[in-house]
Amino acid sequence: MARHFLTVWDLTEEEIWAIIERAQMLKKALREGTLVKTLHGKVLGLLFMKPSTRTRVSFEAGMYYLGGNCIFMTSKETQLSRQEPLSDTARVLSRYIDALVVRTYSHQEVEELARYSSIPVINGLTDLHHPCQVLGDLLTVWERKGSFNFPIAWVGDGNNVCHSWIEAAARLGLTLRIAAPEGFEPNPNIIAKARSEKEGGHGSIELFRDPLEAVRDVQVINTDVWTSMGQEGEEAKRKEVFRPYQVNERLLSYAHPSAIVLHCLPAHRGEEITDDVIEGPQSAVFDQAENRMFVQMALLEWLIISGLP
Ligand code: CP
Ligand code: NVA
Repeated sequence: MARHFLTVWDLTEEEIWAIIERAQMLKKALREGTLVKTLHGKVLGLLFMKPSTRTRVSFEAGMYYLGGNCIFMTSKETQLSRQEPLSDTARVLSRYIDALVVRTYSHQEVEELARYSSIPVINGLTDLHHPCQVLGDLLTVWERKGSFNFPIAWVGDGNNVCHSWIEAAARLGLTLRIAAPEGFEPNPNIIAKARSEKEGGHGSIELFRDPLEAVRDVQVINTDVWTSMGQEGEEAKRKEVFRPYQVNERLLSYAHPSAIVLHCLPAHRGEEITDDVIEGPQSAVFDQAENRMFVQMALLEWLIISGLP
């Protein structure tokens, strides 16, 4: 049976560490011109129902660097737009390609594709999770800090990226402090599962209302847009509710002086983050975007050739 990567729970703690280590090796090898084409002859499909810059290009470029090829599809161009079932689509694509990255709205759609797929299905973002993003974020924190032994703050919407961070905190035993306004907290079921010993959660997930309290002395501040893809109808209300959660110089001054700032991008300057913070010396956002490619290259090797070379 194929292994899938739909949420962070699909990797063990050891596997996450193996991917972080392999990603660092791949980054060095690409820079030194010694990269081995471990996925030569393999084909990656990408099926996207939402826009993307980083996820699409980092998967495609990573696959090419490893010697493989890619086929990019939007749902509009496939027979999905004419109601062909996901179950049939998954079984047909499994006959042509070696792995499939899916970006869509409902998380149940990636689960459905994975259920019927005999090749690995990778979640390239759903309304509920964005696990590839968090692998890249973890590599960025590890590169900058060499440790996870400190509190990490999430400020803003309890959204898909936040959910994947909650699961990563549980898997790796991290302390995650989340500051979100009332009504925009992360999904309680995701928090409960992450806190449950039975599910292998050993991190600490702490919820705050006050963003200044949440970021006090933290080494990492992470944020994301206030209005995610698919929520455009709520934009005006969200702009109002989230205003106190902006990552600006004042908020940053409450964190540890060597704190780094993460944002998965795309960012809305002047909304969830100010221009001076995202362009400032504590911002790690472009390393973070770059690291997406290396963790995903390691993930592709892991899933397609069943383990890292
Ligand atoms: N961070 C991220 O997933 O970016 P894209 O929407 O551009 O893929
Ligand atoms: N939370 C954002 C992430 C974009 C990469 C969204 O879902 O739109």
